[in-house]
Amino acid sequence: MKSDDFEAWIALGQSTVERALEAWVPTRAPAGLGQAMRYGVLDGGKRLRPLLVLAASEAVHGHVEGALRAAVAVELIHAYSLVHDDMPCMDNDVLRRGKPTVHVQYGQAQAMLAGDAMQALAFDVLTPDGDAAVPAALQARLCALLARSAGHAGMAGGQAIDLASIGMALDEASLRDMHRRKTGALLQASVLMGAACGAPDAGAWQALANYGAAIGLAFQVVDDILDVTQASETLGKTAGKDEHHNKPTYVSLMGLEAARRHALELRDQAHTALAASGLAHAARLALLADKIVEREN
Ligand code: IPE
Ligand code: IPE
Ligand code: MG
Ligand code: MG
Ligand code: MG
Repeated sequence: MKSDDFEAWIALGQSTVERALEAWVPTRAPAGLGQAMRYGVLDGGKRLRPLLVLAASEAVHGHVEGALRAAVAVELIHAYSLVHDDMPCMDNDVLRRGKPTVHVQYGQAQAMLAGDAMQALAFDVLTPDGDAAVPAALQARLCALLARSAGHAGMAGGQAIDLASIGMALDEASLRDMHRRKTGALLQASVLMGAACGAPDAGAWQALANYGAAIGLAFQVVDDILDVTQASETLGKTAGKDEHHNKPTYVSLMGLEAARRHALELRDQAHTALAASGLAHAARLALLADKIVEREN
C-alpha cells in the first residue's frame, strides 16, 4: 500500500468518526453538561483507537455500522479516561489536546460528570434498538469487550495501580502489567471490537489479540518516551509530567535508548502476529503499528 493511500485512509476515517461523534455527543444536556462533554470529546485527539477498530473490521470484512459505532464508543471511553486522568486527584494536568483541561474550563464536578456521561454514552451508542442497525449478538459482544477493557481488570484498574505506584521503582513485570491495563487494554479492545464485526476464525482472532497486546503496550512505552523528549506544544499536553510526579515509566526503568528499542521490538511482535493471522487485508493494521512507534505526539 502506498503511504499516500494510507494517509488518505486515515484522514477519511478521522473525519467519519468526527462526524459521528459530533452527532452523538449531546448539544443539550442538563446544566451545561453537554457543553463540557463536547469540549472533552470533539475537535482534538488522534482518533487512533477508532482507526484501529475500522482497520480491524476492514481486515475481516466486518459489519460497517457496527464498526462505526464501536469506533465512536471506544473513543468516548478513551476521552472520559483522559478527562478523569487530568483531574487534580489524579495527574493534575491543565493542558490536553492543546486546550485547557475540562476541569480547568468547567470545574471539577462538571469534569467528573462529563466523564461519567461519556462512559454511559459509549454503551448507549453500542445498543441501538432492535437488530436493524446492528445485530443484537454483535451489540452484546461489543459491549462485553469494551466493558472488560475499561473496568477494574483493564483501564480503571491500571489507573489505580498508576496512582498507587507514585514514587516506587517497579520492576519490568509490574510496569508492563500496569501499562497493559491502563492503556493497552483499550487499544487491544479496539482491535478486537473491529474483529468482532466480522467472523475471523480462532487463529485469526488470537493473532489479532496478540497484535493488539503488542501495539497496546508499545503505545504507552512511546507515551513515556514522548513525555521526556517532546515539548508541551508538540504534545498538546504538559511535557515532563512523569518525572515531575515521580511516576515509574519505561524511561525511568530502562533509560531512553532501551525504551526506544523496546518499542521497536513490540512493533515487530505486532507485525509477526499479523503475518500469522492469515488475513489478506491487514496492511493498514501493520501501518498503524508503525505509526504508533514513530509518532511525535
Ligand atoms: C493519551 O492517549 C493517553 C494515553 C493512553 C497514553 P492519546 O495519545 O491517544 O491521546 P489523544 O486521543 O490523541 O489525545
Ligand atoms: C494515561 O496515562 C492512561 C489513561 C488511561 C488515560 P498517562 O497519564 O501517561 O497519559 P497522559 O500522558 O496524561 O496522556
Ligand atoms: Mg495518568
Ligand atoms: Mg496523565
Ligand atoms: Mg503520559
